[in-house]
Amino acid sequence: MTTIESLLKEERRFEPSAAFTAAAHLSGGAAYDELYRRSLEDPESFWSERARADLLWSKPFEQVLDWRPPHARWFLGGQLNASANCLDKHLSGPRRNKAALIWEGEPGEIRTYTYLQLHREVCKAANALAALGVEKGDRVAIYMPMIPEIVVAMLACARLGAAHTVVFGGFSAEALRDRILDAQAKLVITADGGFRRGAALPLKPAVDAACEQAPCVQNVLVVRRCGNPVSWVAGRDHWWQEVVERALPVRPATAVDSEHLLFTLYTSGTTGKPKGIVHTTAGYLLYTQMTSRYVFDLKDEDVYWCTADCGWITGHSYIVYGPLQCGATVLLYEGTPNTPHPGRFWEMIGRHRVTVFYTAPTAIRTFVKWGDEHPLRFDLSSLRLLGTVGEPINPEAWMWYHRLIGKERCPIVDTWWQTETGGILISPLPGVTATKPGSATKPFFGIEPEVVNEKGEACAADHGGLLVIKRPWPGMLRTVYNDDQRYRETYFGRFPTMYFTGDGARRDKDGYFWILGRVDDVMNVSGHRLSTMEIESALVSHEAVAEAAVVGRPDALTGQAITAFVTLHSKEPKLDSMREALKAHVAKEIGAFARPAEIRFAEALPKTRSGKIMRRLLRDIAAGQQTVGDTTTLEDLSVLARLREDED
Ligand code: WTA
Repeated sequence: MTTIESLLKEERRFEPSAAFTAAAHLSGGAAYDELYRRSLEDPESFWSERARADLLWSKPFEQVLDWRPPHARWFLGGQLNASANCLDKHLSGPRRNKAALIWEGEPGEIRTYTYLQLHREVCKAANALAALGVEKGDRVAIYMPMIPEIVVAMLACARLGAAHTVVFGGFSAEALRDRILDAQAKLVITADGGFRRGAALPLKPAVDAACEQAPCVQNVLVVRRCGNPVSWVAGRDHWWQEVVERALPVRPATAVDSEHLLFTLYTSGTTGKPKGIVHTTAGYLLYTQMTSRYVFDLKDEDVYWCTADCGWITGHSYIVYGPLQCGATVLLYEGTPNTPHPGRFWEMIGRHRVTVFYTAPTAIRTFVKWGDEHPLRFDLSSLRLLGTVGEPINPEAWMWYHRLIGKERCPIVDTWWQTETGGILISPLPGVTATKPGSATKPFFGIEPEVVNEKGEACAADHGGLLVIKRPWPGMLRTVYNDDQRYRETYFGRFPTMYFTGDGARRDKDGYFWILGRVDDVMNVSGHRLSTMEIESALVSHEAVAEAAVVGRPDALTGQAITAFVTLHSKEPKLDSMREALKAHVAKEIGAFARPAEIRFAEALPKTRSGKIMRRLLRDIAAGQQTVGDTTTLEDLSVLARLREDED
């Protein structure tokens, strides 16, 4: 492998507005350049100043960084508590009675918690957990819907110095069991169910099945949310409403070392077994707080809404730990975006006067498909900043977001990061960075990314290669839980002192990063290494296309041939002439050698529960093979069956 060819050239550029810049936390490119330069030239003083100023310490740290590749330890000698940094910190000032959480259930009820009220709930839950035997150093699994209690549960664990392992509520009993066992969780917090698409979706049966095969679990704490019937194991199961409600609303926060385990979060790699990504306390808190402040420009007046689920890293870093440390008002929503109608999100933005909105490209493409009439019906005038995360955003989806949602007024921060990185590493800073649709733009302070070839040598501008990070940062993962060898191999196996992201990227002449997707999604067609993402973007730029996924299938002549799975806008007929038109469109946008060999129309694409297209499954279908790999993270299994039936 030499380098990855990068073919899409996006020329549009959007400067920050003078009004936004004037009010932003950081104003103008010069301020960024200066701070960025300092953060690289003297990282220890940069980070230690920020850690002293921005974190609430029980005991100050003595050493900033101990970097013995591939292991980093930060802020050694210090002690602190994560829940105290999210809550107690705000209780002595005017934020005490400010809304910390505004929650909307799918059926429509609204609950608001001030910082003081949230603090009391967390203390009660911590006391209840302690009474059930949870101690500092223990692990607790959380398997819950998006209700306020999930935030309370996470912070209550942190208050005791116990680590949480949040397992997304859409995972199966088997996936839950594997994570509970790997973490050796002592207690599980769950609910009877959660509301999705207008109905109660039960959670307790999966917990019951998982616990049958997980003897480490001693107690299960169950929030009554839907009132649906649940089976009960006497002695093991407890209603949240009984034990938490009667617990004392005060509980001192347990001071833990800077490098104390805050949580593990499981993520899938290229092999079947999920990896428990390890994040510790001080570095993670500092990094999520700083990125929240600068990337989302959070101010006390903001109403901030991140549509992620707490079961993913985005929920950890940018619903709970980052924004609450900043004293923000965080909106939380339980349900799906099209219940009871496809304008639900836009209606909620109007109702709560949301100012900062953070969502995923896959959601945006879905909204494009549903039609412009839905956002147009609602008042979006409160919005001032938009964000995206999770995958590369196609320039056409970016432009739709910019026009229809941001009304050409709101900066868009396209934030690149990973479960492993803890927080955002590459992103525009609003008010500072001119944006280009489809580019995550520039590194955050202290982050030194590079695009390299297989030998680890820097690629020239505009040449695609592997994205690495050349030095440690406070929010980085510390290891893989119970498997340090896997940590070393996955992230530092190729280059011993540089963190390997697994993503391809190119850097343009202005120093902007363009993420090309996972390198295992890269195709090799006639000796050209092509990013699936760029061909998808070309397809989506065609007016008939709602969503596209591109994979390579083995081809005797060209190495790989391109198969594109395409979802058309609902009213478009699926004609052969459309197939030809789309092939010609890609050839026109990128070049004849990138012309798909095959276009398949699909009603829906197989996605993970976090919305990522599962190209691995599509590759099998394109190659005409039975899927042998793991499908436990697939959102809707029937999609696979339907794709097979569609085979010509
Ligand atoms: C992809 C989600 C392009 C990337 C926070 C990364 C992105 C993986 C972007 C991590 C972005 C995330 N542009 N690609 N703005 N953000 N990715 O661990 O491939 O669920 O490696 O973390 O998502 O996914 P994860």
